[in-house]
Amino acid sequence: MTTTSLPLSSVKIDSQIAAAVTEGLLSRPKWLPSWLFYDEAGSRLFDQITELPEYYVTRTERSILTERAEEIVQRAAARDALRIVELGAGSCDKTRLLLRAAVERQDTVVYEPVDVSPSALAQAQERIESEIPGVVVCPRVEDYTREFSLEPPSPGERRLVLYIGSSIGNFEPHEAGQLLENVREGLIPGDALLLGVDMVKDRETLLRAYDDAAGVTAAFNKNILTRINRELGADLDVGAFQHRAVWNRYRSRIEMHLGNTLPQTVHIPSLDLRVEFEAGETIHTENSYKYLPGQAETLLRAAGFAPEETWTDEKGWFSVCLARAD
Ligand code: AVJ
Repeated sequence: MTTTSLPLSSVKIDSQIAAAVTEGLLSRPKWLPSWLFYDEAGSRLFDQITELPEYYVTRTERSILTERAEEIVQRAAARDALRIVELGAGSCDKTRLLLRAAVERQDTVVYEPVDVSPSALAQAQERIESEIPGVVVCPRVEDYTREFSLEPPSPGERRLVLYIGSSIGNFEPHEAGQLLENVREGLIPGDALLLGVDMVKDRETLLRAYDDAAGVTAAFNKNILTRINRELGADLDVGAFQHRAVWNRYRSRIEMHLGNTLPQTVHIPSLDLRVEFEAGETIHTENSYKYLPGQAETLLRAAGFAPEETWTDEKGWFSVCLARAD
């Protein structure tokens, strides 16, 4: 059998990816959107990140939820039965803590994960239904950053929307506000939102969490380039790029960049694009915003929620806020 390389015209190109890469690599400074991290390899690398000793984020939020799940569910439900919505289908193990607490309270609970990826939803459904009897999974394929609608709950029911894992940290403050307003529009008064935010802390702890000793975060960052090579037929010299994490204290965010060490001309035939990279030039790939005490509550209020309670760990490294749609 002879092997022939696939003609590029037959490579199916995702138009959203094409548009984002074109815009980002033609900008100065160059940038790429952080949602591009999450192809199959990237999602696996992110799962590894959540288990790193330096990445306190997942561990700390999980410890808060382990301790407070019952209280959170009780508080959110008031006297009603809860339906639990989750924005994103990725944070299964932390979600389980809340679903278990809800099942204990009301025997069966409807769980509605919202995600753009049907395969991520199918995986979540399979895991949750097999592991927690009493949970009925109703997956929703939707881009919650754009549109978010839910049919009204039955009498005696209310919704608790989970937006945990510091996912909101990837958004600029004004985008985060818009997203919460969007979510608010899909809810009715009395519904609740549980928001997980990562807090400002000392610089060394933050930098270590985004530049771990094992190099997993570096691999996660560089994988965005491998993905562009594979999916768009580009010829980026991935080995010439170095991972960088920066704490931008003025904007209260960790930034991830890829620094190019060798001058290169990159061809992206599927986009009909040629891009010059100078030595020392960087691509900005992610912002991860960190919050000060009270900031998440202010954002929630501006979006039409009344913050009811905030739980945190003893170091104040992570916060989980429960807010009521008003
Ligand atoms: C998935 C956005 C919460 O910002 O900490 C982890 C992504 N990037 N290490 C974060 C991430 C590098 C993560 N979030």
